Amino acid sequence: MSNFNPANRGISPHLPFGDQRAAPWYGKDILSVKQFSRSDLEYIFGVAHEMREMVTRVGTFDLLKGKILANLFYEPSTRTSSSFTSAMERLGGSVIPINEVRYSSVAKGESLPDTIRTLECYADVIVLRHPETGSAAQAAQYARKPIINAGDGIGEHPTQALLDLFTIREELGTIDGLIVTMLGDLKYGRTVHSLARLLSLYSVSIHYVSPEILRMPKEIIDELPRTMAQAEHTTFDPVLPLTDVLYVTRVQKERFTDEADYESVKGSYIITPETMKAGKEHMIVMHPLPRVGEISIDFDNDPRAAYFRQMEYGLYVRMALLAMVLGKA
Ligand code: NCD
Repeated sequence: MSNFNPANRGISPHLPFGDQRAAPWYGKDILSVKQFSRSDLEYIFGVAHEMREMVTRVGTFDLLKGKILANLFYEPSTRTSSSFTSAMERLGGSVIPINEVRYSSVAKGESLPDTIRTLECYADVIVLRHPETGSAAQAAQYARKPIINAGDGIGEHPTQALLDLFTIREELGTIDGLIVTMLGDLKYGRTVHSLARLLSLYSVSIHYVSPEILRMPKEIIDELPRTMAQAEHTTFDPVLPLTDVLYVTRVQKERFTDEADYESVKGSYIITPETMKAGKEHMIVMHPLPRVGEISIDFDNDPRAAYFRQMEYGLYVRMALLAMVLGKA
């Protein structure tokens, strides 16, 4: 949400009705994990817990009755898009789905700012996925309504990182003291860019395991506090026995400029029941999904496979975020 939009002059886009004045996240954008402190995370996880209880007890309730979400996706999505839809509907609100931008005015050449200005006439909050890094921040400069970044190119995916952290906490009971290993495409994978930044608020160690050409960007490693142990590897075997959280990612084929580069690294690491024999008994394996072969389906019934549970945690975190930015939490 922009504070500088001249269109806002004289009108407050977020009228302070009752308890909304006390809601610290009311009207805020969610663009990057850099905006969160550790106490913010505790707050979000507390709300997500309440959402989980309510969904278990009553399924759907009217916290956001009458509110409308515009779900604007310029890139493919199954989980992020449908979990935001489910989150809004479980809270009693409704959704304008724009998953196929080629059938919208975007196909006629409409700019992102104009599309955003249009949707905010009809919706109270906009969830945006876009192939360009920085697009969510750009959209927020034009919008009077809150923008939630659902992935901006290879930049960030803050709501995924929040649900990833919530998953770790729910599954292992704590985040402090853990050894987290990120495996796969750490260069183009936006989920690991956001997650590494969020983890730096805790006392954890991170091992990055990737092919040489898919290393975690140096700017991100350098940006994180020196007090956090970070180590890079190209082989997985030495790291697995130490790991508490194994975060596997897909090689992001669509982000490669040279197909031969993709072919040279695809299938570099494959998690199977056999490889996981060297892993701890009390550890978890996560993946933002979709997977395209990097975790064998034979591993799915292992209790350490947390990637399907991770999707469910995402619903509660996204319900919490929608309630917060709409002034109801
Ligand atoms: C991820 C994404 O879109 O960045 N998916 C997701 O949101 N769960 C990961 C991916 O596409 O590999």
